[in-house]
Amino acid sequence: MIFEKNILCIGAGYVGGPTMAMIAYKCPQYRVTVVDINPERIAQWNSDELPIYEPGLYEVVKASRDRNLFFSTDIEKGIIESEIIFVSVNTPTKTFGVGAGMAADLQYWEKTARQILQCAKTPKIIVEKSTLPVKTALAMERILNSENKGIHFDVLSNPEFLAEGTAIKDLEKPDRVLIGSSLTDSGLKARDELVEIYANWVTTDNIITSNIWSSELSKLVANAFLAQRISSINSISSLCEETDADISEVAHAIGMDCRIGNRFINASVGFGGSCFKKDILNLVYLCRHYGLNEVADYWESVVKINDYQKERFVYNMLTAMFNTLAGKKICLLGFAFKANTGDTRETPAITIAQKLIDENAELVISDPQALKNAKADLKDMGGKISYVEDPYKAASGTHAIAVMTEWDLYKELDYDKIYQSMNKPAFIFDGRNILDHKKLFGIGFNVFPIGKPSMTHFD
Ligand SMILES: NC(=O)c1ccc[n+]([C@@H]2O[C@H](COP(=O)([O-])OP(=O)(O)OC[C@H]3O[C@@H](n4cnc5c(N)ncnc54)[C@H](O)[C@@H]3O)[C@@H](O)[C@H]2O)c1
Repeated sequence: MIFEKNILCIGAGYVGGPTMAMIAYKCPQYRVTVVDINPERIAQWNSDELPIYEPGLYEVVKASRDRNLFFSTDIEKGIIESEIIFVSVNTPTKTFGVGAGMAADLQYWEKTARQILQCAKTPKIIVEKSTLPVKTALAMERILNSENKGIHFDVLSNPEFLAEGTAIKDLEKPDRVLIGSSLTDSGLKARDELVEIYANWVTTDNIITSNIWSSELSKLVANAFLAQRISSINSISSLCEETDADISEVAHAIGMDCRIGNRFINASVGFGGSCFKKDILNLVYLCRHYGLNEVADYWESVVKINDYQKERFVYNMLTAMFNTLAGKKICLLGFAFKANTGDTRETPAITIAQKLIDENAELVISDPQALKNAKADLKDMGGKISYVEDPYKAASGTHAIAVMTEWDLYKELDYDKIYQSMNKPAFIFDGRNILDHKKLFGIGFNVFPIGKPSMTHFD
């Protein structure tokens, strides 16, 4: 079959896989190939056990795979055969040299640019899908034009705003698609080609265009604003605990102000995921680079409050449980950084687990999707840790439960049965404020929510 366009995506991760699956699903007239240097990942994309868990993803992949959606390790062939190349490789925080712990590590990104240059025989549109520091497209263009091969490359920025756990919904009906381009004739023509792809299923009002630097920066700023809301409400949760105010009531009251809105203001043990911290630190690094130290400090405090919230959580556990956790068995209900994903990158549960192990507690970890990742994350942590998928078995014989992830299934457990199976006095620390605290207290638990008065049977 002759396809209208040949689209390639380099990087078959949490972003590359689902975004390309959606394009292929919505546009059978295009051939979409996703390549990766990791053969195991590609084999999983070609199997019934996809490498990531995302509601609805399997159905979308299944509908298009081997029709117009292909997963492959042959990067060179992919580059040669395609006109449009999305680059969705990882851009983690740098761990070495200048900017270590802050700046984005662009080595995977730059390797990809060089490989495109080396293999390309015809003009290409290169689309930045990865989240990158503002001005990266300039570096990309310089690399692509470094050999005077006589091939024209246009670089576009098209950051991805999907949220893990709701990726398919977000891709099918995005709040907006943002496309940044240079404002030259050629840049605008390339931009229109990308608009045409999305216009197959996204209303044109929701496809917005901008200059390329605004587009690159908007992604960092969107994540910084989202994370800032979580740190803001979490900072107030600590004040609520001191003053008998209730963070849910405060959030409800402020959220009804339409200028504030009610989303993303649930107090919790803290934000996680591969992006928020990395992107904020990236923004902080950029601000420092341009001498904007006050601005850098402002955004850095969002990460500091997040760290503080995790510390506070464990400190509250310690003091509530008579200032010693040594030898006590604690069940972590949930390990993924949020519900409906198996992703554990930067999950608060890793920090909490480490701090509990430092107190010589024994851990039982439960999660419906993330146990494989949890095992890998904690393999060098030492201490006594076991992994049990069934929440009833996981909680049995423990002194305390700490809710780490807001999985719906945890709201519906039989807590009477769980209470019976636990050591007494039994504690629940609800790091997501998802449980019925009064009911738990009635059963006999000592209950410690976030940002609300605790309920104990000790007075
Ligand atoms: N995960 C999210 O929710 C999310 C959302 C929006 C944006 N982003 C951004 O998207 C980018 C990708 O994130 P992700 O979560 O998909 O990462 P990921 O680690 O899941 O996937 C990246 C993939 O790129 C592959 N790769 C690295 N170098 C390569 C190369 N030279 N050639 C071919 N493949 C290569 C890796 O093997 C890996 O499979 C990041 O910049 C991230 O900040 C992520």
